[in-house]
Amino acid sequence: MADQLLSTTPHHDTLPENYVRPESERPRLLEVVTDSNIPVINLSSSDKSLIISQIANACENYGFFQVVNHGITEEMLRKVMGIGMEFFRLSPEEKAKLYSDDPAKKMRLSTSFNVKKETVHNWRDYLRLHCYPLEDFVPDWPSKPELFKEIMSTYCTQVRQLGFRLFGYISESLGLEEDYIEKVLGKQEQHMAVNYYPQCPEPELTYGLPAHTDPNALTILLQDQQVTGLQVLKEGKWIAVDPVPWALTINIGDQLQALSNGRYRSVWHRAVVNSNKERMSIASFLCPCNSALICPPKKLTEHSPAIYRSYTYDEYYKKFWSRNLDQEHCLELFKTNSGEQN
Ligand code: OGA
Ligand code: NI
Repeated sequence: MADQLLSTTPHHDTLPENYVRPESERPRLLEVVTDSNIPVINLSSSDKSLIISQIANACENYGFFQVVNHGITEEMLRKVMGIGMEFFRLSPEEKAKLYSDDPAKKMRLSTSFNVKKETVHNWRDYLRLHCYPLEDFVPDWPSKPELFKEIMSTYCTQVRQLGFRLFGYISESLGLEEDYIEKVLGKQEQHMAVNYYPQCPEPELTYGLPAHTDPNALTILLQDQQVTGLQVLKEGKWIAVDPVPWALTINIGDQLQALSNGRYRSVWHRAVVNSNKERMSIASFLCPCNSALICPPKKLTEHSPAIYRSYTYDEYYKKFWSRNLDQEHCLELFKTNSGEQN
């Protein structure tokens, strides 16, 4: 059963069968490249054009980068990680009250990815929160641990500011007006996933999160400082994204790939688990508003026709959650030549 939180079940000596991937889908951890050179971008540089060109390079060639001197203090990030961990240490009874496997719920504690759709489960529990506008959602957030609402809502506000700043750089790096992306995405939603990956008896056989791309516009990930686990696919190889101290890891989501007419890439990434330490990560997802119409600007289709048909984010998001996570890139279903008509 995966309808049970991993963080409340007793220790396992072997991996339960319904978490075991078939041989051809296993992570092959020994083949992972560990000396990665995922770009690290200093956001306090006074040379804005340097930041923009670094971002362009990172988005085109990696789809991932880390930012340092991003304006969110180490003290804040420590508090956020601390309160996240405290949350997963709450009693089983307390956590059971929040459990749901319905992706439509705006606040839920769940496990794996999409329990009802998937055949093999993932070694992860996660708390998913909607975060914007805060006053609409915070009242329903967990009331324990005591400081949870306060710390997480402060963090959400700061992450949003950072995200909008990055949208400005990304717009400019595509030769667009600074506020272009922010405008197109509309009154954006913001979601958060507090991911908890317990120690796993057989990490070679399963995933915390299998390969996927993020369906939103931009993801800002706060990674565990001690335990690595995030890997991204580049030229057919999985590379580890080891956290730079108190950096935030940024990745392009499917919507920016579509908006940039395929120039910037929403790359496959995954989280692996390990046998000696639990790991936590906190992902903040900036999403278009549901009615936002996603299509590339004229400027980016002058020399190459639109790769994807236009669609609303609402349509995209429904399609994303109707699938299993590690199928084909969800954007493939929106290609102008995909043959899919609806
Ligand atoms: C995600 C994600 C990676 C990680 O939540 O979408 O990719 O390291 N997380 O937890
Ligand atoms: Ni992801």
